[in-house]
Amino acid sequence: MITGYGHFAQLAESLQWDETAIDLTADAEAFPQLDQDEYDQVLGLLAGFCIGETSVATHLTSFNAAASSDDMMAEVFTAQARDEARHARFFDRVVREVCGVPGTNMTERVDALRDRVSPDLVELFEERLPAIAASVAEDHENLTAAVGLYHMILEGVVLTAGQHALLQTLKGLSVKMPGVVKGMELVLRDERWHIGFGSRIIQSADVVDDQMEELLTQGTKAASAWGDLIAQDDIAHVEHLHQRRLKSVGIKFW
Ligand SMILES: [Fe+2]
Ligand SMILES: [Fe+2]
Repeated sequence: MITGYGHFAQLAESLQWDETAIDLTADAEAFPQLDQDEYDQVLGLLAGFCIGETSVATHLTSFNAAASSDDMMAEVFTAQARDEARHARFFDRVVREVCGVPGTNMTERVDALRDRVSPDLVELFEERLPAIAASVAEDHENLTAAVGLYHMILEGVVLTAGQHALLQTLKGLSVKMPGVVKGMELVLRDERWHIGFGSRIIQSADVVDDQMEELLTQGTKAASAWGDLIAQDDIAHVEHLHQRRLKSVGIKFW
């Protein structure tokens, strides 16, 4: 049994940041100057993050209860949930203050943005994740499979692909959006340890080869859920990362 979740708790504590402290003034001035293609791509990627982070922040609570036999693992899930809630608040702040998306609360703004992403992306976060979170709440034995979907596929593939694509897009714009870049980099830094934590759980569990193969297949398929919002090269890159990560946690059919 591999232990050592305490390292992630310390890391989480040392990486705290405040989403309200990021200055979005220049971003709010730049956004209306984007041309139509840039506008659609930036808002589409942000829409995916609003949907994704809101959903992961909500459903991580079931994982926490399932980890109750391991106090340190439960503590790390709590720290991660705090990060995910911050990420959801950050992207909501961006779409509200920079993009002017209407709505009196986060839920209404997510509703307003849903049409900007593919049904496949919505299904992953709003159907598959809630279903597996419910199965964990019912039977704690399902925790490993749930971590496989959440940490390895949704965070390790889908969100990672979107994060890199957004950073690349923002850096290539004719106008600068430094506040969104800064926040995105901080989110990415958090996501790195979240994925490391999930990998450690998978590594410690007795995952059989066909489950690993399923993770590989699902991850490869999920990488395409962003549709046209992400370039084919970037999708291939995260698929490769996903394969390497699975290999490092003990996949045996290479
Ligand atoms: Fe997140
Ligand atoms: Fe995360």
